[in-house]
Amino acid sequence: MSTRPPVHVSEAEMAVQRDSMCRIAEMPHRPQTYHVVTYGCQMNAHDSEKLAGMLEQMGLTAAPDREEADFVIFNTCCVRDNAERRALGNVTWLKEIRKVRPEMMIAVCGCMIQEPGMAERILKQYPFVDLAFGTANLHRFPSLFERVLTDRQRVVSIDGDDVIAEDVPVRRLRGDAAYLTIMYGCDNFCSYCIVPYVRGRERSRRMADILREAEALRDTGVKEIMLLGQNVNSYRGEDGEGFPQLLRAVDALGIERIRFMTSHPKDLSDDLIAAMAECEHVLPQFHLPVQAGNDDILRRMNRRYTRAEYLDKVRRLREAVPGIGLTTDIIVGFPGETEAQFADTLSLVDEVGYDSAFTFIYSPRTGTAAAKMPDQIPAEVSTERIQRLIALQEKRQREQMTRFVGQEEKVLVEGLSRRSDRQVSGKGGHGISVTFPGNEKDIGQIVPVRITGLKNNTLSAERKES
Ligand code: 5AD
Ligand code: SF4
Repeated sequence: MSTRPPVHVSEAEMAVQRDSMCRIAEMPHRPQTYHVVTYGCQMNAHDSEKLAGMLEQMGLTAAPDREEADFVIFNTCCVRDNAERRALGNVTWLKEIRKVRPEMMIAVCGCMIQEPGMAERILKQYPFVDLAFGTANLHRFPSLFERVLTDRQRVVSIDGDDVIAEDVPVRRLRGDAAYLTIMYGCDNFCSYCIVPYVRGRERSRRMADILREAEALRDTGVKEIMLLGQNVNSYRGEDGEGFPQLLRAVDALGIERIRFMTSHPKDLSDDLIAAMAECEHVLPQFHLPVQAGNDDILRRMNRRYTRAEYLDKVRRLREAVPGIGLTTDIIVGFPGETEAQFADTLSLVDEVGYDSAFTFIYSPRTGTAAAKMPDQIPAEVSTERIQRLIALQEKRQREQMTRFVGQEEKVLVEGLSRRSDRQVSGKGGHGISVTFPGNEKDIGQIVPVRITGLKNNTLSAERKES
């Protein structure tokens, strides 16, 4: 946890940004349409909603296809090499479109831009990029964009402090479910992870600001709120309020469904477990990234918990919230990982029985401690290991899912099922996908169902007469 108080962007600075947005809106030759391409995590997805919010205040409207937009923004991720390569590949691909539509403008922003050396690389190797800016100055996007439009010059801006900007306009993608950031940055420095370098030091929003935003969302009919932070358990309000206290306060607002992510196992407290059990609207689901099942690997990852401690927290969560949906993140092929150490990860996955797991092959990130460790694992070894891990997880997932058959769930419908337009799908309270008969009218509604069986890693259900 940071010892410095968080720095909020001043009202005067936000007024400068609002003025920029107004002036851009008045410009006759500005781009008319925009398209934001998002990579990476929920934090980034929410940042893209803020970009869209600011663009709409500047008078631009959303274009469904990037090829047709006047202004395309790539909001990038750099947590693994493939996310980065995909983003850069797509930026380059757009260069070709611009040969046919020379008026098209291109911006690149997000975590990747904060990486050391990336700004210089964009300047040199990507001359068709008009604007590049990092996560540290997302709230300054209007004034940066205005400079590009008025000076007709490229702008690359990565400087900026670890601040909190309140009242940035947001255009939410969904009307029924909303992201709500409670804290920014990360101080954990897990040895493989680049996030603390690109997202800066941990800083928490004021509890009053969070509650005000949650109330406003409730009043517009939002049914589900996802509280976001790289490590929500180290939330500290201005008066020292912890995450369990915040969760209880959000719960009291009467929003139907509340979720949160991500929790670091080392900081998962008994009080949070108690709050989960107590709070009526907090859903019975928990994302608890384990990363590895071997103590030596966990130590070298700088995770600061042991396998036994992790398993104990899982046990306590399950005791307090019976049937809780449990998900995780796992990395295979961490430097020096032996077959026996990997076998410990397999046995942990077998023992816990997750409802879902995000599995990743370790990707060395320049500047992190693990990138300098000896014994980097060859790609073919990691690939073979991840396949075994996925096979085991799929088997355990199917076994775990059977516990829901015959039970009742409430599903927030996200859309038509990919397989049939007479079926809809969404997430139940446990966070697991459920498919059942329905139509477009159900989208955005919470529908009570009875689970009837399993189909391709999702649950199938019938509507419950209510
Ligand atoms: N290589 C592979 N996976 C990573 N993650 C973070 N950094 C790396 C990396 N260098 C994974 C972790 C984390 C998730 C968001 O991404 O599992 O929990
Ligand atoms: Fe990365 Fe670890 Fe922070 Fe998560 S807790 S963002 S894995 S450093």
